[in-house]
Amino acid sequence: MLPKKATISIIKCDVGSLAGHHIVPKPLFDVAEKNLKKAAEKGVINNFYVFNAGDDLELLMAHEKGEQNKEIHQLAWETFKDCASKASQLKLYAAGQDLLKTAFSGNVRGMGPGVAEMEIEERASDPIVVFAADKTSAGSFNYPLFCIFADPMNTAGLVIDPNMLCGFKFEVIDTKESKTIVLKCPEEMYELLSLIGTVGRYVISRIWRASDNLICASSSVSKLSLIAGKYVGKDDPVMITRAQHGLPAVGEILAPFMHSYFVQGWMRGSHWGPIMPVGLKASKCTVFDGPPRIVAIGFQMANGKISSDDEGTPIIADLFDDPAFALARHEAMQNACALRNMGEFEPARLSAEDMEYTTIQKVLGKLGERFKPLK
Ligand code: F6R
Ligand code: MG
Ligand code: MG
Repeated sequence: MLPKKATISIIKCDVGSLAGHHIVPKPLFDVAEKNLKKAAEKGVINNFYVFNAGDDLELLMAHEKGEQNKEIHQLAWETFKDCASKASQLKLYAAGQDLLKTAFSGNVRGMGPGVAEMEIEERASDPIVVFAADKTSAGSFNYPLFCIFADPMNTAGLVIDPNMLCGFKFEVIDTKESKTIVLKCPEEMYELLSLIGTVGRYVISRIWRASDNLICASSSVSKLSLIAGKYVGKDDPVMITRAQHGLPAVGEILAPFMHSYFVQGWMRGSHWGPIMPVGLKASKCTVFDGPPRIVAIGFQMANGKISSDDEGTPIIADLFDDPAFALARHEAMQNACALRNMGEFEPARLSAEDMEYTTIQKVLGKLGERFKPLK
């Protein structure tokens, strides 16, 4: 018998939010849940879980239709449109912010919403961790993904588990030139780092175990500014990782978040900010529209579904809802204060190159003609 294939799709969109760019309010959850419930009853998807990362609505769906499937993407697109019209009725802020195109063209990629998908052959037991971050961008997963799948100081399994000794292959996207490259660690670790340290340009999109090409990570890589040609909010990213039994343990996947690190985004998508791992209850951006926050959802795949209880409700672990991450949260706030003390001076503000697509260009444009050649 062929092993059963299942697909995990997480598709997200800022459809409008409460109190500025703070949080997705309940009425929008209700619309999303109603739509996905209907789709599950019709058999389009097997089951789903709706959550938020700050002002981003996150649709986590389990199905058997494969990646980039038109029906699944259309379901997400229509759901976001319904949520955006509810947001408009309620006069929520920036209703439909990330819906950049009007007509659906078969795939949400390049239309505004962010997407990470993974088709897997379900193992005997398949633990999955899905991450979603707000007020930041795709490259902010480069650092933890490197730690998890390439750094033996983070992932003991790279040294201790014979099934991981072969290393992992990383697909990196050059978002400026729309090119892609695959690098293998440990052999090409230095080359990989030379690229992915430039988080504003190079983004890790997929990771496979080198010995058997088992897919083990998939992340969103969209840059909304490159679609719209102007600043339209940051590209609050999502990713799916697969854990255990010859892959990094869930604890190794979470270990990079014991400390805060710096990401691009925060206020007006124009600043460096410390990432703060939080439980779903604290998934809401406040001070200086942040600090950038990340949530982690853990679950098991079971016969094409997110493993569910007897009532059919998915069983979900809210992994950062834990005092173990209190130090990282504290560090994040200390670093947030240090950066904010610098106001609009680099390195608190992004470099000129990374500000290329922000609204500052309009301000600078006005000054342009007043500059005179230096005598
Ligand atoms: C960042 C973000 C916010 C807004 C800021 C200004 O991703 O969404 O920081 O950039 O609140 O928003 P507007 O221009 O809508 O008033
Ligand atoms: Mg917003
Ligand atoms: Mg957002």
